[in-house]
Amino acid sequence: MADRKPFVGGNWKMNLHGDEAVALAEALAEQFTATDKVDVAVCPAFPYLAKVADALGSSDIKVGAQDFYIEPNGAYTGEVSLSMLKDCGVSVVLVGHSERRHVIGETDVLCNEKVHAALEAGMEVILCVGEKIEQREAGQTDAINTAQTAYGLAGVDAEQMSKVTIAYEPVWAIGTGKTATPEDAQNAHAAIRNFVRTGLYNNAVADGLRIQYGGSMKPANAPELIGQADIDGGLIGGAALKADDFCGILNAAL
Ligand code: PGA
Repeated sequence: MADRKPFVGGNWKMNLHGDEAVALAEALAEQFTATDKVDVAVCPAFPYLAKVADALGSSDIKVGAQDFYIEPNGAYTGEVSLSMLKDCGVSVVLVGHSERRHVIGETDVLCNEKVHAALEAGMEVILCVGEKIEQREAGQTDAINTAQTAYGLAGVDAEQMSKVTIAYEPVWAIGTGKTATPEDAQNAHAAIRNFVRTGLYNNAVADGLRIQYGGSMKPANAPELIGQADIDGGLIGGAALKADDFCGILNAAL
């Protein structure tokens, strides 16, 4: 885990309705205190962002958004801008989650525009990358990860990288109960970091960059995953929906 401060995000996806989202936020605020050793964010569905921010109160758990649109306002039916999210207490945004890439159809170009828009708006960005099962089986894991990283970060300055986290999320491991082995995950993370070091930026950016693992991380497998040299926390889906499970993962990161 090197000396980077781990960062654990909870991606609630399209789960947890009003009272459930608030109850989970209240439970997390109560159970989790040691945020000087780990950064924590939760990403509820849009309608509950403000309520969740209220419920988290002064807990230091950040509020994240699962998506946004790149324009500040205007005729974009159904979309939500970064300044609207800020009004709801959001300071972290996900970009390029595999469900947005592969279910909704977001392109690398749009992901890159989103990274720029979010950084310009002063948000922290979690850029998600990861290969599909057929790409892994064809030996393309590192090629896919580095390509998505390169597209996502195109035109981003080294100075802006302090606000960027990468989440390596093998698509076949998301919500499936299948987890990358710690060795496979470590290898993928190391390849991404090496590419950031030698292909995109420099030692300082690569050494400071946090790379989360995502894909069926649970309290039982979190210690071994987060214990790997290049794994700096996690982006958690299913196990983020219960306070005990999420706090179990946070404890592993501490
Ligand atoms: P999972 O989801 O933990 O349920 O596999 C992870 C994610 O999609 O971020």
